Amino acid sequence: MEMYTFKTQDEAAKFAYQMVETGVKEGQIRTLGLATGGTPLSLYKCMRESGLDVSNVSTVNLDEYVGLRDEDEHSYHYYMQKELFSHLNFKVSYLPDGMAADLDAECRRYDRILEENPVDLQVLGIGKNGHIGFNEPGTSFQSETHIVTLTASTRKANMRFFEREEDVPEQAISMGILSIMNAKKIMLLVFGKGKAEALRKMAKGPVDEACPASVLQNHPNVVVIADEDAASLLKDQGQK
Ligand code: F6R
Repeated sequence: MEMYTFKTQDEAAKFAYQMVETGVKEGQIRTLGLATGGTPLSLYKCMRESGLDVSNVSTVNLDEYVGLRDEDEHSYHYYMQKELFSHLNFKVSYLPDGMAADLDAECRRYDRILEENPVDLQVLGIGKNGHIGFNEPGTSFQSETHIVTLTASTRKANMRFFEREEDVPEQAISMGILSIMNAKKIMLLVFGKGKAEALRKMAKGPVDEACPASVLQNHPNVVVIADEDAASLLKDQGQK
């Protein structure tokens, strides 16, 4: 696991962007795995402003809420459109369809998309409880795309994007842990003091389903890009 720590989130995002740009320009990134939430916003800003030609790049997102229409401003479809897709010329972009009538069939459809579009670089954030995607503690490391019932803590954390707690959907469709681990390379972005303990457990704790992100210790090609606050509980921070 390579670890890069920066003073500020902006510096970290620029470094992350450089890695994406190089991969795209050199043709190593044909499929880019994307995340939503607060963490990747600074990277997406760099991407938007770059005008990078991504016409040869397909994207696959980690997850989507169940029951929100694409036009709903809380949906991840809407988020991706606003932050990235309306600004760059990606070849094709896939997200799970949280409005599908048959959600199990939608999970299998998404698994097929992932098989046909193996992820070259997966951008990942981490939840305070160690979740990746919407894979909460206790999720099997063998899981593929599945329906998730969100924990109270994740609903609470995501409440900041909604007006009222009861508006936060109770379920989501998420790539599984196995699906995430299938990416050739994973770029985990971690910012802020609130994530320090999650980052410590991910990197130094036991590899255990109680901390989904700890599975990344078993992946051969993970780059962690953090700010100093997030890395504050790691001793060997590999300063950049
Ligand atoms: C988002 C996702 C989640 C977030 C995580 C951290 O697509 O899959 O796992 O990466 O909840 O969220 P933020 O970045 O908002 O702290």
